[in-house]
Amino acid sequence: MTWKLTKSELDHENLLINESLLSLGNGYLGVRGNFEEGYKPGFSSIRGTYINAFHDDIEITYGEKLFGFPDKQQKILNLIDGQGIEIYLDGEQFSMFEGEVLSCERNLHMDKGYAERIVHWRSPKGKEVNIHFRRLISFARKELFAIDVKITPLHGVQQIKIFSQINGDVSNFVDKEDPRLASGHAKRLDISEVRQQDGFSIVKNTTYATKLEVACVASTSITAETHEHKYEQTEYGIGESYVYSSNEPLQFTKYNVYTDSLRHGEPVVEKAVAIQQQLRTISFQELLQEQKEYLDAFWKTSDVEIDGDAKIQEGIRFNLFQLLQSVGKDPASNIAAKGLSGEGYEGHYFWDTEIYIFPVFLMTNPEIAKNLLLHRYSILDSARERAKTMGHEKGALFPWRTITGAESSAFFPAGTAQYHISADIAYSYIQYHLVTNDDEFLKKYGAEVLFETARLWADTGHMRDGKFRIDDVTGPDEYTCIVNNNYYTNAMAKHNLLWAAKVYQWFKEHDSEGLQQLQGRLQLTENEVTDWQDAGENMYLPYDESEKISAQDDSFLQKARWDLENTPEEKFPLLLNYHPLTLYRYQVCKQADTVLAHFLLEDLQDFETIENSYNYYEQITTHDSSLSSCVHSIMASKLGYEEKAYDYFIETARLDLENTHKNTKDGLHMANMGGTWLGIVYGFAGLRVKEAGLSLAPSLPKEWNSYTFHMQYQGRLIRVHKAKESVSYLLVEGDGLTILHHTKPVHLEQGNEVRVV
Ligand code: BGC
Repeated sequence: MTWKLTKSELDHENLLINESLLSLGNGYLGVRGNFEEGYKPGFSSIRGTYINAFHDDIEITYGEKLFGFPDKQQKILNLIDGQGIEIYLDGEQFSMFEGEVLSCERNLHMDKGYAERIVHWRSPKGKEVNIHFRRLISFARKELFAIDVKITPLHGVQQIKIFSQINGDVSNFVDKEDPRLASGHAKRLDISEVRQQDGFSIVKNTTYATKLEVACVASTSITAETHEHKYEQTEYGIGESYVYSSNEPLQFTKYNVYTDSLRHGEPVVEKAVAIQQQLRTISFQELLQEQKEYLDAFWKTSDVEIDGDAKIQEGIRFNLFQLLQSVGKDPASNIAAKGLSGEGYEGHYFWDTEIYIFPVFLMTNPEIAKNLLLHRYSILDSARERAKTMGHEKGALFPWRTITGAESSAFFPAGTAQYHISADIAYSYIQYHLVTNDDEFLKKYGAEVLFETARLWADTGHMRDGKFRIDDVTGPDEYTCIVNNNYYTNAMAKHNLLWAAKVYQWFKEHDSEGLQQLQGRLQLTENEVTDWQDAGENMYLPYDESEKISAQDDSFLQKARWDLENTPEEKFPLLLNYHPLTLYRYQVCKQADTVLAHFLLEDLQDFETIENSYNYYEQITTHDSSLSSCVHSIMASKLGYEEKAYDYFIETARLDLENTHKNTKDGLHMANMGGTWLGIVYGFAGLRVKEAGLSLAPSLPKEWNSYTFHMQYQGRLIRVHKAKESVSYLLVEGDGLTILHHTKPVHLEQGNEVRVV
């Protein structure tokens, strides 16, 4: 039961939400869960098909444009619509909004990788039919989106007509009132080719500004003898119809192949046709089999089993499945804040990747994690350029939000000023190294990223009274902007600087020639490395003596406290109801900031400071960002606040399934989805990955009987099972290893389960 998400509501609001929940994807291509035949007129729907990183550039219009503000913004585009399938019974068109829906069930199969809709329908004239739609986006063939429809006439049906379409006349969704959505530039694609050739329906679009091309080439097959088959071409697209006169069931399958000039080069149509040729001999059933094989391998290392709470079990599996569906698996792409499930945040990549999503893949599917790092490496030149624009002599400043590497944030206080993203990226390279021990990767990519980001900090900060200080940046909390010495930023920069210096020494000892080459390329001197060490060691980390907490920044604790208790519920999220300056003047947090730093770098403070800080900041945090609750859950676990840990965890596990942030229709909250896994593995199970190795401190929410998960570590697969009275560790694959269990060493050998009471 918990492998299947069932969402069968048919009211307007839920249908929109279900478009996101039932979306399908494979990291390259994504399609929202729309009805093939469409909706009734006047019914708002976000009908969407996306290719990760396929975008157009849009001029940003500023009232007052100052130096260094980006001119352009990238935007993921809604692409050629291949979903269209209309069904006519003796001339009456099937619609979920006419006649009678006698039953309807919609399922997302998270173990099998497809979605389905099973409808028993009676037409206004009393004809009855059962229609079973199944759709998949292939993990094995990234360009393929296939739909299979089985139509079973039940009563009074003489003739069935199927009209399948490919529509190139598509636009993006806009909402002027919500800053998390695009406010204009809905239409960005020209239709550059529409034709039919050798049984293929072909539509090609070209973006207005970037001149990127995308093609959708479709083929169809039908199991029955039809007496009419024809194509209808318009300037917008192609329709293909079949007419069938019998009351026997029939099966219709549509194979849409998408190619784009970013990945496939030109000519995109020919590339798609070539892929279609390979598909000729493959049945829908075989595609389903391929999906199952891919997902079996995924779940083997990624599943989290929860005994005792079916709803949470559904939530965690759903979240993991959606992360897999959205994460880019080629170096041209990363994972967007809403994945491939919607247009919120315009398909941009944020720090969400490194801090909330990357760790999930790192511990379960390191190859996918590696790709995320490679993508960041591929935009290093843009980050260097951005650093120059921002007045730095050296170093790399990664963009706050981007697709191709260029900064896409027009609101710098809560955008570009979040310099911490560069340290977050460095942090993920370090974590990757600790988990994989991949020295070659460190030499080839990691070292350069660490060096260039360290240079950024060296250039941004300055030494005063023996302390290294970083002024005028914004930390993760977007309700407090442009501050001096944001604790999170300084702590992460310290880590970045010290690791850059450490990797430099390591490189020198292990491959001095390789280091020399890199140094030559970067014109890096040893003096710079000494400065990194110095800055890192002497980094100023603000501390408040009276509260005995880490101060969020130099001025935060002097501000008035926002009166959260007396703020009416309808005023949340505050960002939609108050001018940013109003928010900046108060102690009020949108999301975990210092608390997050205490999670990522717990050894920088003692337990008391961490505990006091949690208690302090929790009181003034709104969790208006979906990136907040999971961090509070993890830290509550660390501090032994069991109830809180569980309550915050519940918020994350079903955030989209319950639409608690009221914007699931715009796409799923990917960072939060990663946060659910973090809440279990880093929270309840207390995992930490440090230079000394792995440590765990598993606890079990009292509501559950047990939980089980796997993780990969330096070529090993380890299973952790926490039951009421005990924890069992099993080294499933790999060499023996000693881990820490509540600070005590536990040795694991392959195949021998170790039970600790
Ligand atoms: C959060 C950011 C996050 C962005 C995209 C914002 O609401 O404050 O931390 O990166 O959403 O998810």
